[in-house]
Amino acid sequence: MHPIRLFAYTAMATVLVLRSLAASAEVPATASSWLESAVFYEIYPQSFRDSNGDGIGDLRGVIGKLPYLHDLGVTGLWLNPCFESPFRDAGYDVSDFYKVAPRYGTNEDLRNLFAEARKLGMHVMLDLVAGHTSDQHPWFRESQRHERNRYTDWYIWTNSVWTWSAPNQQVVVGAAERDANYIPNFFYFQPALNYGYAQPDPKAPWQQPVDAPGPQAVRAELKNIMRFWFDLGASGFRVDMAGSLVKNDPDGRATAALWHEFRAWMDREYPDRALVSEWSSPQVAIPNGFHMDFLLPFNKPGYASLFRKTAPDANPFFDRSGRGDIRKFLDEFEPLYAATKRQGFIAIPTGNHDTVPRIGDGRSGRDLAVAHAFLLTMPGVPFIYYGDEIGQRSTEGLPSKEGGFGRTGARTPMQWDDSRNAGFSTAPADRLYLPVPAAEDRPSVAAQRDVPDSALNTVRALIALRHAHPALGASGDFTTIMAEAGKLPFVYERTKGGERILVALNPSAQPCEARLPAEVNAASLRALAGETAAFRREAQGWMVNLPPVSYAVVKVE
Ligand code: NOJ
Repeated sequence: MHPIRLFAYTAMATVLVLRSLAASAEVPATASSWLESAVFYEIYPQSFRDSNGDGIGDLRGVIGKLPYLHDLGVTGLWLNPCFESPFRDAGYDVSDFYKVAPRYGTNEDLRNLFAEARKLGMHVMLDLVAGHTSDQHPWFRESQRHERNRYTDWYIWTNSVWTWSAPNQQVVVGAAERDANYIPNFFYFQPALNYGYAQPDPKAPWQQPVDAPGPQAVRAELKNIMRFWFDLGASGFRVDMAGSLVKNDPDGRATAALWHEFRAWMDREYPDRALVSEWSSPQVAIPNGFHMDFLLPFNKPGYASLFRKTAPDANPFFDRSGRGDIRKFLDEFEPLYAATKRQGFIAIPTGNHDTVPRIGDGRSGRDLAVAHAFLLTMPGVPFIYYGDEIGQRSTEGLPSKEGGFGRTGARTPMQWDDSRNAGFSTAPADRLYLPVPAAEDRPSVAAQRDVPDSALNTVRALIALRHAHPALGASGDFTTIMAEAGKLPFVYERTKGGERILVALNPSAQPCEARLPAEVNAASLRALAGETAAFRREAQGWMVNLPPVSYAVVKVE
């Protein structure tokens, strides 16, 4: 070989080897690295900020408020569905999974949101409505046709229009040209996508097995949707009704296997993206692929007992009456935590777009501070529903909007200031997505910004504290120190590496005092947040003393 050519080849080979060495030296980022310190914020896009004066929130509105969210300390956003939809269930009825709904903007706006958020260190998650589409989706329109076509088996159809019922399932009867009825997933206009049946009934051959071509095609399409938004910059998905994809799956094993496969695919191709499930069974969801799973009131009465009246005579734990019982939460939480703690994170939300009341209902700023002190010092990943940082309240008595029904009151516009429409929109008030309450009746960001101990500033300070202390991160260990029915304070410890932090909470209107158990053998305790003089050393050990409605976070030294 000519010496110059040989030199060129050698040089090129060296560059390639060096490049691949450099690449292999780089440890690929994984989701767990950013989830460790993540604090999420849920945005219901309709109601966050309207940038073009049409009365409905949009993506440019969200982009404009990124500095606010960054200043609050939020590092992750979850956007409710923002895809094309007839909006009969607020966008959970998707008619094009690949296109941003025009009322929110364009795909390019969403790409910009991802990019602008990333510049501020924030990750944006979208909402993946995996289980169903709108009945207006072109796939479903095709599926309804008499002639067989690509989409015939993408939905679950009975054998004939005369099959009027199916065990444990609703059936929508006589709605199509096709001689068959379909299985809806939620409302009647949300036909269930066909992921197959774990145990198809041999007497009902229309129930296809999971590995039939229809269910397999749907599964492949779901991956395409995820890939599309990952490639545009999405950091992950909140998965709607994640536990109910495969039908007649009594132990959930077939649905779990699906997510297992998806997680293995993500770990290979998108290891830095994350999934959070609407499953509310972390002991199932997390081992089977989800990075996080929510606790939600519908099947977690212990979670509900924190903030909501769970029965006519049962007070929530975070309540001035002091009659709530933290054991109701812990008896549920501790086993879930133990079962999942090295594999993923439990997400305890302040609330969400499906839950009324809001955490701010009936609570003063001080009450809220104690609740937020709990939520922001627990293990796992906290999720703040927009407006809960200021104690925004739900509105009673509103007519249903976009399939909200009883949930509508928790979906009203974000209250930014006391200008017209609370600074949400410049549209005439009667064109707003939902009304804002009268000015004198509404907390707002502007009114709380300069008040040092406002709910807003407390949340900001607690998030900063969480970021500053590894023990308060998602994987810091959690141990209950004092939690007895009828006794306050509730005290727990968070630890990671050498760091130990104690949190003491007193939501009641009465002061409380208790001696810490001997195992809390600290030389000194340094106040980090809340009451600075709550802990006192005595000959027999540490005493904790909390005034009414207060909390203390201290570092063990
Ligand atoms: C759960 C969502 O949170 C809710 O808002 C929606 O109506 C249903 N799933 C159906 O998608």
